[in-house]
Amino acid sequence: MADESVDPKQNPRVTRRTFLGTTLAGGAALLAGGSDAIFGAASSATGVNLIDTADAYGPETSELLIAEALHPYPKGLVIATKGGLTRPGPSQWVPNGRPEHLKQAVEMSLKRLRLERIDLYQLHTIDPKVPMEASLGALKEMQDAGKIRHVGLSNVSPEEIVRARKVVPIVSVQNEYNIEDRRWEKALVYCEKESLGFMPWSPIGGGRGLKPENPLERAARDRAASVIQVALAWLLERSPVMLPIPGTSSIAHLEENIAAAKLELTPAEWKAIERET
Ligand SMILES: NC(=O)c1ccc[n+]([C@@H]2O[C@H](COP(=O)([O-])OP(=O)(O)OC[C@H]3O[C@@H](n4cnc5c(N)ncnc54)[C@H](OP(=O)(O)O)[C@@H]3O)[C@@H](O)[C@H]2O)c1
Repeated sequence: MADESVDPKQNPRVTRRTFLGTTLAGGAALLAGGSDAIFGAASSATGVNLIDTADAYGPETSELLIAEALHPYPKGLVIATKGGLTRPGPSQWVPNGRPEHLKQAVEMSLKRLRLERIDLYQLHTIDPKVPMEASLGALKEMQDAGKIRHVGLSNVSPEEIVRARKVVPIVSVQNEYNIEDRRWEKALVYCEKESLGFMPWSPIGGGRGLKPENPLERAARDRAASVIQVALAWLLERSPVMLPIPGTSSIAHLEENIAAAKLELTPAEWKAIERET
């Protein structure tokens, strides 16, 4: 999970603001993909036009750092946050989809992010103790009040997406997905069919990383690229609605990941990778 703390002291030559501005404050950077079409975000010079965070990351710290580093936000940069999954203690993740909690969570995120309206607010998870219609109804109310522009979902099945869309328009889904973990393939296919953004979390294997020997290695060697870069290129190639959000606390990794947006796999490379997965 991306509640990693960012330590600007790792590099004494950069200030906290420049460090965070570059490494995106423990959130994840979306590589320029179809997000312009989906969220109306303009592609930036860096190739990053969305930062994903959540009130639970830190908790609260990630949103505070993003505002400290980047506010006032550059035009066209989408800050996407999430609510509905709380952190009562270390390594504890407890859903809370009660309407009152979610409405308050939106207000608190607005304050921490110094925004009047959140461009993309995602329900972090569905709370099994609360009917999802009630949770999403609260987000619809916040949208009607002008506090949220778009609503997204996270950790949901295609059936849940269909149900959610009966309550409030949904623009995106954030589920775990990478070349080695395609459990949510059906959710991706649904998003493709319905032109919803699909934001794969753990796009490069998360904290564990990808397996040491994997089908991306040959393409990486041939192109003098890293396996991580090919993993990101593979995601971008996989679907036009794919919006990868790789997380990093390192400037070198951030630059490497951004450069991957320019790497296009050839049909032969794609086929070779698919054959081995
Ligand atoms: N919706 C959800 O439930 C949920 C759950 C988890 C995550 N997320 C979101 O998804 C984002 C990404 O997921 P994630 O952070 O779990 O996994 P990830 O992006 O697949 O992997 C992050 C890990 O990869 C390393 N890394 C990044 N770039 C690298 C590079 N170029 N070379 C080598 N290692 C590299 C990072 O270490 P370094 O810091 O050393 O670079 C970190 O350990 C998060 O930031 C968060 O916004 C959402």
